[in-house]
Amino acid sequence: MIPIAKPIMEKEEKEAVLEVLESGMLAQGKQVAQFEKDYAEYIGTKHAIATNNGTMALVLALKALDIKGKVLVPSFTFLSPVSTLYFVGTTPKFVDIDPKTYNMSAEDAAEKIDSDVEAILPVHLFGQACDMTAISELAEDHKLKVIEDACQSHGALWKNKKVGSFGNAGCFSFYPTKNITTGEGGIITTDDDALAEQMRAYRNHGQSHRYTYTSIGYNFRMTNIQAAIGIEQLKKLDKFIEARRKNAEYYNQNLKVKTPYVAENAFHVYNQYTIETEDRDTLTTHLKEQEIGYGIYYPVPLHEQPIINDESELPNTNTACKHVVSIPVHPSLTQEDREKVVETINNVEKP
Ligand SMILES: Cc1ncc(COP(=O)(O)O)c(C=O)c1O
Repeated sequence: MIPIAKPIMEKEEKEAVLEVLESGMLAQGKQVAQFEKDYAEYIGTKHAIATNNGTMALVLALKALDIKGKVLVPSFTFLSPVSTLYFVGTTPKFVDIDPKTYNMSAEDAAEKIDSDVEAILPVHLFGQACDMTAISELAEDHKLKVIEDACQSHGALWKNKKVGSFGNAGCFSFYPTKNITTGEGGIITTDDDALAEQMRAYRNHGQSHRYTYTSIGYNFRMTNIQAAIGIEQLKKLDKFIEARRKNAEYYNQNLKVKTPYVAENAFHVYNQYTIETEDRDTLTTHLKEQEIGYGIYYPVPLHEQPIINDESELPNTNTACKHVVSIPVHPSLTQEDREKVVETINNVEKP
C-alpha cells in the first residue's frame, strides 16, 4: 500500500518526547515556549502562539481580532476556516477560486466586498500561497483585516516571503497529514504585540496573570509533548519540502494528466499533489486496485453543505470539486512508488 500521507517520526522526536515524559512537566511549559520561538523565527514574525489544533488557532485569531462582520472565504477548502466564523458569531461570504491554482480569486473577492465585509480569510491550499500581493492591496484599500489559513502550507512562499507573515495573523495545523506534525496541534503567527498578548490570554482561560481573569477565555493550550515533537519536526521541514518538491517534479515530468499549476510568484510546498481527470470514478477504481492511496479534496463545496446551504454561484469551485484527485507526494515515497503511481495513472488516462 502506498499511503496518501505518512508522518516521519525518528529517533530525535522519540528522545525529545521521552525527555518530557521523564521531566513530569507535561502541559504547556518550556518546550512550548521554545517551539513558539523557533516557529516565529522560521516564518519571520515577531510572535507565534501554539494551540491544541489548527481549528482552534483560527478561532483564537478571529476572536482576538474581534471579527463581527462578514468574512470573505473560499468554499473550495476544508471546513475549519468557515465553521470557525460561526463559532465567533459571524458568517462567511463565499469567494470563487482561480481555476488554475485552486486558491481564492482576488478578482472575485474584490467584487464581493461591501460594507458588511470586515475581513478576508485566504486559504493557502495544497501547499501553494494565494496571490498575497492582490489580497493585501484589497485589504489595505478597504481597511479589511486578513487572517491567513496556512494550515496546509508550512514553508510556502509568495515573492520569497513565508505565508503566515502577510496578514494580521497566520494559522497553521500540525495534523499528521501536514508537512510537519505534532499529532494534533496548531500555531498562530503575528507581528502585532497586542494581538499576541490577547491570543495568549484567550488560550489560557482569559488570564492576564495567574488567577486574574480579564476576559472569558478557553483552554486551547498545546502540551510540552506535542511541542517537543514540533521542535524536532521543524528542524526537518525544509528537507521534507525538498523531498516533496522532487516527487512533484517527477510527476510533472511524467504524468499525462493535468498537473498542478504553480503561480509565478509562488514556491509550492506540495502538501497535496492534485491532478484533474474527466472520469474520476475510473481513475480512483484503478488507484484502489493498485493499492495507491488518494484523496478527493474536496468533493462537495462548503457553500453547498447541508449545514450551510448558501446560494452563492461559484462555477470554478463547482468544476474543481468534480475533477480533482490528490495522489501521494509525501517524502517517504521511493522511486518504485513514484513509477507505480505514474504508470497506473497514465494507463487509465490515455491521451
Ligand atoms: C485548510 C485547513 N484549515 C484548517 C484546518 C484545521 O486544522 P486542524 O485539523 O489541526 O484542526 C485544516 C486541517 O485539517 C485545513 O486543511
